[in-house]
Amino acid sequence: MGPPTRLTRSPRRRTWISLGVLCAAVAVAALSLSSAAKTPYAPEQPIDFSHRVHVGDDQLDCAVCHSAARRSAFAGIAPLERCIGCHKYVATGHPEVLKLRRLWDARKTISWVKVYELPAFVRFNHEAHSLAQIPCDTCHGDVGSMHRVRRVVDLTMGWCVQCHRDRGAPDDCVICHH
Ligand code: HEC
Ligand code: HEC
Ligand code: HEC
Ligand code: HEC
Ligand code: HEC
Repeated sequence: MGPPTRLTRSPRRRTWISLGVLCAAVAVAALSLSSAAKTPYAPEQPIDFSHRVHVGDDQLDCAVCHSAARRSAFAGIAPLERCIGCHKYVATGHPEVLKLRRLWDARKTISWVKVYELPAFVRFNHEAHSLAQIPCDTCHGDVGSMHRVRRVVDLTMGWCVQCHRDRGAPDDCVICHH
């Protein structure tokens, strides 16, 4: 009965080894990480863009600028071209819109400062949460009422895992860690 025992033992040992490697890698990555999430965080942006004006007053759907949130891992932010589509005609004399126009004419892009950001060793997926019918507000708060976007949750592992347990979503390490 020697060989069969080995056959069942070695894959399991391999699992433990790779789990150890995973934990070590994740721990090392965490050490080099200074952006430990603290709420609230509302960085200044290169263009003073207001969600309150666009979503609150003008009733634009989130998907006008973050359409990818429903069908891919990243929500993304609409390119300057989409902004100009309206701002060729709307608020053309506003100083921030003039700034926008100058960037566009110079064929530049805007480097928005991230408000929500996970360390590179964590995998997140917008589409999966969208399919599970979790509204944007659950994780981002009432963005439509904000002038400048403010982070409303601590992006800790405990926060993710707690909800996964509450809703019967998977909580194995490899779901979130590569
Ligand atoms: C569907 C049309 C539409 C799109 C797309 C759009 N805007 Fe606007 N934007 C508006 C309207 C309407 C206003 C309000 C104008 C007013 O009150 O006079 C506005 C106002 C603004 C202002 C003026 C300041 C303020 O807060 O009132 C800025 C700056 C601005 N938008 C930037 C952007 C940027 C950047 C994008 C692209 C990410 C964008 N807009 C996309 C319609 C749009
Ligand atoms: C007219 C375009 C537009 C619409 C509509 C819009 N957003 Fe945004 N959103 C932006 C732009 C531009 C930024 C980047 C600048 C900033 O953070 O304000 C942004 C940033 C964000 C961020 C922060 C991203 C990060 O981590 O840096 C969140 C969260 C967000 N939007 C959620 C929403 C939600 C939820 C809605 C609908 C209720 C919405 N947005 C509607 C243009 C838009
Ligand atoms: C379960 C929580 C959760 C939900 C629901 C959620 N988001 Fe996010 N969102 C996040 C996290 C976490 C990040 C940071 C991701 C990263 O850094 O990898 C993020 C990042 C973003 C960003 C920054 C750009 C990007 O793709 O990283 C935008 C914009 C955004 N979310 C918009 C939305 C919109 C719009 C909705 C609703 C359709 C939504 N989010 C639903 C958690 C969520
Ligand atoms: C408010 C509840 C909630 C929060 C907060 C939340 N999740 Fe989720 N997550 C879910 C649900 C529900 C699913 C869908 C599970 C399914 O399809 O069975 C899911 C799915 C996922 C998936 C896809 C799993 C697969 O099957 O491939 C990943 C990856 C994920 N979440 C990562 C995260 C991370 C990372 C965070 C924190 C930054 C987070 N989630 C925060 C509820 C949540
Ligand atoms: C639902 C998503 C999710 C699951 C499941 C998950 N993690 Fe995490 N983990 C995260 C997020 C998000 C972070 C980064 C934020 C933080 O450090 O709290 C993180 C950070 C870590 C860190 C960095 C140390 C620290 O606390 O900052 C380690 C180590 C870790 N995870 C190990 C694990 C192990 C081992 C498992 C399985 C038992 C696991 N994770 C399951 C989302 C998850």
